[in-house]
Amino acid sequence: MATLLACSTFALAQAAAPDAALAARGARLFSGQTRLANGGAACISCHAAAGGGLSSEGGHLAVGLGSAWTQIGPAGIQAMIATPPFAPMAAAYGEHPLTAAETGAILAFLQRSAQQPRPAGALQRQGSMLLGGGVGALLVLLVLQLAWRRRKTLSTKHSIYARQSRQG
Ligand code: HEC
Repeated sequence: MATLLACSTFALAQAAAPDAALAARGARLFSGQTRLANGGAACISCHAAAGGGLSSEGGHLAVGLGSAWTQIGPAGIQAMIATPPFAPMAAAYGEHPLTAAETGAILAFLQRSAQQPRPAGALQRQGSMLLGGGVGALLVLLVLQLAWRRRKTLSTKHSIYARQSRQG
């Protein structure tokens, strides 16, 4: 009984995880390392997909596809690739469709992408940008404060009056 349970758990895990080699192939297609057979543009020129074996984040013209698998599912992604409803994507793939094998590999890659947490690097970069912005704003305030310190605190009349009374 226990073996049966272990076996079925194993089978489930197998079904849930994409084929590693296929996902790796998908990552290369996504990132343009492997050219698409019909000459279409690599997804990464418009989409980001952190994780899943990609080191760079990718383009920002369109939404990131890191969680496309969980959001629109394999059928949704497949439809987007086969009949893209968005003009930039239709222009990219209308005359350069992906092959079924390429679509399968990219699907496996996006599945793996969705199952991996965002790499620490991406979050870190966001954090340092926030920090940089904060420090920058503080510096500007400091410089303004220093410049402002030399402002006149007494009236112009006061200095004339002081000079006059010293002379007199
Ligand atoms: C020329 C730019 C471009 C390229 C190349 C491109 N896409 Fe897109 N894609 C878009 C645009 C624009 C949208 C519209 C969604 C949005 O508002 O960002 C989109 C939407 C999608 C969506 C729907 C996302 C969602 O959550 O609604 C999927 C899935 C998708 N693309 C997959 C791909 C895949 C896979 C590739 C590579 C085979 C690819 N795209 C290549 C521009 C592009």
